Amino acid sequence: MTDPQVPASTTDTDTIDTSSESRTPFTDRLSDNLQSIIKALTGANARPPRRLKTLLSGTWLRHPLHPLLTDVPVGAWLLTVVFDIVWLISPNGNAWAARAAEGTVILGTLAALAAVVTGLADWSDSYGAERTTGLYHGLLNSGATILYIISVVLRLTQTTGESTAAAVIGFAGFVVMTIGAYLGGDMVFAKGTQVNHTAWEAAGDDYEAVLPVAEAPANALFRVTVSGVPVALLKLNDKFFAIAATCTHAGGPLDEGELQGDVVQCPWHGSRFSVRTGQAITGPASIAQPRYDVRIRDGQIELKRIGGH
Ligand code: FES
Repeated sequence: MTDPQVPASTTDTDTIDTSSESRTPFTDRLSDNLQSIIKALTGANARPPRRLKTLLSGTWLRHPLHPLLTDVPVGAWLLTVVFDIVWLISPNGNAWAARAAEGTVILGTLAALAAVVTGLADWSDSYGAERTTGLYHGLLNSGATILYIISVVLRLTQTTGESTAAAVIGFAGFVVMTIGAYLGGDMVFAKGTQVNHTAWEAAGDDYEAVLPVAEAPANALFRVTVSGVPVALLKLNDKFFAIAATCTHAGGPLDEGELQGDVVQCPWHGSRFSVRTGQAITGPASIAQPRYDVRIRDGQIELKRIGGH
């Protein structure tokens, strides 16, 4: 689970004294430095619209981009293993399999490079145990990608695409990639990385009164509760809008975020959402916030979630 409450000693290298640095695990210091570099390269801390960060996060796709890309090398490299085994069984009779392996290994490696870039962008927003597992996940898969790049080069240097060394290096790359993929699954299923943090929020059957109209502040987000779920309510030009207060990206409190017109910026990693539509506008979030319908009855603001889970 993402925890944004990182001690200053792990985020600001300028403030680390010598004694605390010596006690900080190497993996944390490595992660701090890597994350700072990645954030600078992706413009994660720049002013909106932060297009590169948004592109790499999959905000435009309304789905995280990294897990989608990782499917390609896993499938392509598995096919490469099969083709290489077929070729090795009978190099003369199955020369076609070496050619097929050459095609799938190139496809998988190109997709892996894209997966590495998007994965680094995602990992730069992680903390704690999630971050440590992500570091190993990334190192293993980067290592696998390097092995496959070597495998591609060896094949391309042969006019027939046939290379025993390339096949063997590919087998090693597949083993390394499989261990890395296991850790990626652990991040999602055990630690909740990139999981929609509003996925299990309750949706009541009827409207629920949350606040007298007279008490609603104008042009400011106000936290209310509907069916036990925190909701961010906005009164804008005498119109009311409401979205889930828990950020879909990693659970940040949107009602504490910075509001610009009808757009709120999450205080944890800077995702920006339209309070009118719930849509993520700026990454790292890609999943929209659940929306609530607002009506006024007997001087009370009443909310009901739009849609189910
Ligand atoms: S929790 Fe990450 S952007 Fe909101």
